[in-house]
Amino acid sequence: MSSARFEPAGPLRGGLRPPPDKSISHRAAILAAMAVGESWIEGYLDSADTRSTLAAIAGLGAGVEIADGSKPGALDVNVDGIGLRGPGERFPAVGAAPTIDVGNAGTLMRLLPGWLAGQGRGRWTLDGDASIRRRPIDRIVEPLAAMGADVEGSDGNRLPPLTVAGAPLEGISYRLPVASAQVKSCVLLAGLLAAGATEVVEPAPSRDHTERMLAAAGARIDAETLGPGLAVRGRLPPRRIVLDPVERLEPVGFEVPGDFSSAAFFLVAALAVPGSRVRLEGVGLNPTRVGLLGILSRMGAAIEVEEGSASAGEPQGTVDARHAPLRGTRVAAGEVPLAIDELPLVALAASFAEGETVVKGAAELRRKESDRIATVVEAIGALGGDAEPLDDGFVVRGVGGLRGGAVDSHGDHRLAMLGAIAGLASRDGVEVRGMEAAGVSYPGFERDLLSLIG
Ligand code: S3P
Repeated sequence: MSSARFEPAGPLRGGLRPPPDKSISHRAAILAAMAVGESWIEGYLDSADTRSTLAAIAGLGAGVEIADGSKPGALDVNVDGIGLRGPGERFPAVGAAPTIDVGNAGTLMRLLPGWLAGQGRGRWTLDGDASIRRRPIDRIVEPLAAMGADVEGSDGNRLPPLTVAGAPLEGISYRLPVASAQVKSCVLLAGLLAAGATEVVEPAPSRDHTERMLAAAGARIDAETLGPGLAVRGRLPPRRIVLDPVERLEPVGFEVPGDFSSAAFFLVAALAVPGSRVRLEGVGLNPTRVGLLGILSRMGAAIEVEEGSASAGEPQGTVDARHAPLRGTRVAAGEVPLAIDELPLVALAASFAEGETVVKGAAELRRKESDRIATVVEAIGALGGDAEPLDDGFVVRGVGGLRGGAVDSHGDHRLAMLGAIAGLASRDGVEVRGMEAAGVSYPGFERDLLSLIG
C-alpha cells in the first residue's frame, strides 16, 4: 500500500482535460464487442477498471487492438466485434468454464452478465477483487432470472462470484427498485437477445449512456419521460425505456468525452482553495451525470459551463470554477442518481461551507467501492470536520475548513482522490494511505493535480 502526502497549496490555476469517461469507455468496449465488424474508440480511458473490460471482451473472442491515444490518460482502441451471439458460438467445446476477472470494475461485473445470459451455449464465471466480492449482485440476478436466465451467485445469489450459462430469454417489464444505471444496462443488454420487447422503468433517471450508445449502434430503443418533463430542483422525472430485440448491432465510432466524475475533484478543489480558478476542457456534460453542478450552485459556487459540440451523442464542453464562499444545502433523493459518485465531494465542500449540508436518499453509497457513508464520514472526522452518518446519507456541519491529518482510502479510488484534495485545502496537510487506489479510474491524477498548483 502506498502513502502520499498532500500539503496545503496556494491557489490552483490553469486548465486541463480530465481523462476519458469511465462509464462510457466500459460501454463502448462491450457494445463494440457485441457488434458485427470493426468499431473504433478514440480516447478510451487507460485505467485499471477499463483495462479489465478490454481483457474480458478479448477473452470472449473479440479482436482488440490498443494504441496510445492522442489525449492524456487515453488509448485508441479498435475492436473487431463477434456479434450478439458470438460468445456462445466461440465457447470452447472442451475444458473448464472460463473465469472472467473483472478486477475492481462494478460496471463490468453488472453489464457483461446481461450479454452472456442470452447466449445459445456456454458458461462463464465472473469474479473480481476483495471489494467486488462484497458488492451486491442480487440486483442483476433477480431481473435476469425473471427473463429466464441461468445465473447463480454466491451467498444465496447475493455476492460474486457469479456464474452465467447461456439460456433462451424472454423480454420483461421491469421496475427498478433503485435507480441504478448498471442494473438498467444489464437488463437492456439481455433484452437485445430476448424474445419480445423489454421494458425498464426507473424511479428516477440514472445515467443514460447505454441508451444513447445502443441507439447509435442501430438498436430499436425508445425512452419516454413519465410525468411532467421538467427538471424540478435539479431532479429529472422518472423514465420508461423500451427495447426490441435485434439480429445484430452495427459497429460504431466513439470519441469518449472527459469524465465529469474525475473533473469534479478539481472543481471542488478550486472552490475550497482561496484564489483558485480552474478551467476543465472536453468534459462530458450529459444531464444525467452533472447533478453536482446544481448542488454546488445552490451552495454558492462560482461555476460557468460552456457547451461545445456533442461527441458520440454525448454533450461535452468546458467548465470553469473559481473559489467562492459556500453555504450548506439539502440534497434530495431525486438528485442522488445524478450525482451518485460525487456525493463524497459534496461532503468535502460542505466542510468549507457555512451551515449544515444534508444528503438523504443515498443508501446506495453503502454499496460502492467502499461503504461511502462510513468511509466519507470517517475521513471528514479524521481531518477535523464535523460529519455524522445517516442510514441513507450524511450530515456535514461546516467548520470553515479542515485541519488535516491522515485518511485511509479503503481501496476506494474516489476516497483516495478526495483525501488529496482535502490536503491542498487543509491547514496542516493530509496523508492518504492507499493512494494507489486512484489508478482504478485516474492513473494520472497526482500529475494533473500538481500541474494546477505549479
Ligand atoms: C455506473 C453507475 C453507477 C456509478 C458507477 C458507474 C455505470 O452505479 O456509481 O460508478 O457506469 O453505470 P449504479 O448504477 O449502480 O448506481
